[in-house]
Parts: sequence; C-alpha cells; structure tokens
Amino acid sequence: MGSSVLITVVSLWLMVHAFAGNFYNDFDITWGDGRAKILNNGDLLTLSLDKASGSGFQSKNEYLFGKIDMQLKLVPGNSAGTVTAYYLSSKGSTWDEIDFEFLGNLSGDPYILHTNVFSQGKGNREQQFYLWFDPSADFHTYSIIWNPQRIIFSVDGTPIREFKNEESLGVPFPKSQPMRIHSSLWNADDWATRGGLVKTDWSNAPFTASYMNFNADSACVWSSSTSSSSCASTTSAPNPWLSEELDTTSQGRLNWVRNNYMIYDYCKDSKRFPQGLPSECSVAK
Ligand SMILES: *[C@@H]1O[C@H](CO)[C@@H](O)[C@H](O)[C@H]1NC(C)=O
Repeated sequence: MGSSVLITVVSLWLMVHAFAGNFYNDFDITWGDGRAKILNNGDLLTLSLDKASGSGFQSKNEYLFGKIDMQLKLVPGNSAGTVTAYYLSSKGSTWDEIDFEFLGNLSGDPYILHTNVFSQGKGNREQQFYLWFDPSADFHTYSIIWNPQRIIFSVDGTPIREFKNEESLGVPFPKSQPMRIHSSLWNADDWATRGGLVKTDWSNAPFTASYMNFNADSACVWSSSTSSSSCASTTSAPNPWLSEELDTTSQGRLNWVRNNYMIYDYCKDSKRFPQGLPSECSVAK
C-alpha cells in the first residue's frame, strides 16, 4: 500500500471511530475476574453473573454535570433475582448518586426500572417504573441530564423522572462533587424480584447484560489535578443541556409515563414518612 493510501485509510478509520464512544478509552473493568468483557474493538461491553460472582465497570473520567447516554440490553429470559445497576456516584460518606437499577423477573414478567437520587449521602428518593417495551429484547438508550438546576432521567428520549434543585427549600442538590459512571450486574435475590419471593435460577447462568454507544461527548469532565471542569474553559462550546428544562411536549411525555408506568413514588408513600413527606415532595410535579 502506498503511504498516501495508508494515511487516507487511517484518517477514515479515525473519523469513524474517534467520535463514537469506545469502551477501551472510556471505562475500566473494576471487578468480576474476567466476567466483564470489552468486545468488537471497544464497541460493545458485556457484564456477566454466575453463582460465584457478578461483574462491573466504571468510567475513567469523573464528571461534574453532563448529558450522558448509554444503550443497554438487559439479561434476557429468566432474569429473576438479578440486578443491573447503571449509575453516577461520587465518593466519601456524604456522596451524591444518580441511579438507574433494573430488577430482573421471570420470563415474560416485567422488569422494574428503579431510580433514586442521593445528595450528601441521603437517598430514600425511589421512583419505580415498568417499561413500555421488553428491555431485554433490544438495546435502548438510558440518559441522564445533570445540570445545576435539575436531573432528568430519560428512556429512548422520553423523560421518566425530573429531580429539581430545591435548595431554596433546604434540600441539598448534587452540584459540587464530581461523579464517575458505574455499572454492575449482581445477584440480589433477597429483595429484587417480587420483594425477594422469586429467587435466582442458577441453571440459567451465566446471565449477561450488554452495553453500546456510550456518549458523554459534551459532559463536563472533572480534572482532580487542577480542580476544574472542562466546561469552565472559555473555549469550550456552549452546552444546551446545561440549562435544559422540560418543555411542554416533554412534560406531557413525562406525565404519560407517570400515569401509565409508574409503580412507586416515594412522594406518595406517606406511611413511610410518618413525620411528613420529604420537603421536595411539596412542589407540584
Ligand atoms: C415481576 O412480575 C410480577 C408479576 O407480574 C410483578 O408483580 C413484579 O412487579 C415484576 N417485577 C419485579 C422486579 O418483581
């Protein structure tokens, strides 16, 4: 091959690959002794779980605000007892966390998508949903928009949950601790499926969940060495998601999800909070 042909081939390869997320560049496998795998030149990541262990990975970068998309295809068939967690989390005893957790089920029975938000080490803000599709049949996009005013959880572009900054009501909001992306697949058959009634059937192991098309291209990458965020740079392009809010259409979609697919909302669980619902629940949804 002539060198100019080679250069053209290399630059074409770069154009195709440089802008798509690559699991080798963006993530480290953190546990599972070979059960987590990066495949197809970095385009695909799989986690697996068997009786001896689950597995997990985390992002190389820490982020302080961002729009972060990931496509997941969950454990198919009888996934009862398994939990696939995909979340952002900071470190320390007063950590912040933004959670998606997928609770498996018997074949044909619905997964539960469990969400939570921790600020300064305090969570107890669960909302749970069924999905309007089978999340184990295909890849679907799960997104978090995290900006100083709100956190928006979306599924295939449909917002399912908004957690607003209600610091004016005295509710801490995650806005100063950088977070890493984490994911893991593990056995939680003491609580995951029908509250722990349905156990993991190990004859179906290994269980596998798959990941594709990670995109955090415009997210604010935190540098711990300089204690600054890539978004603070004056040369960085303006990020529309940094001030994104739900417009009327998105609010309508969110209401559709809440009315048809929401199965638990901590803000409706007055038995659980005999001293009164958390302050943020007083603000109209
Ligand atoms: C599993 O299916 C049962 C029966 O439809 C349902 O009650 C439950 O919410 C489903 N999901 C989980 C994770 O238990």
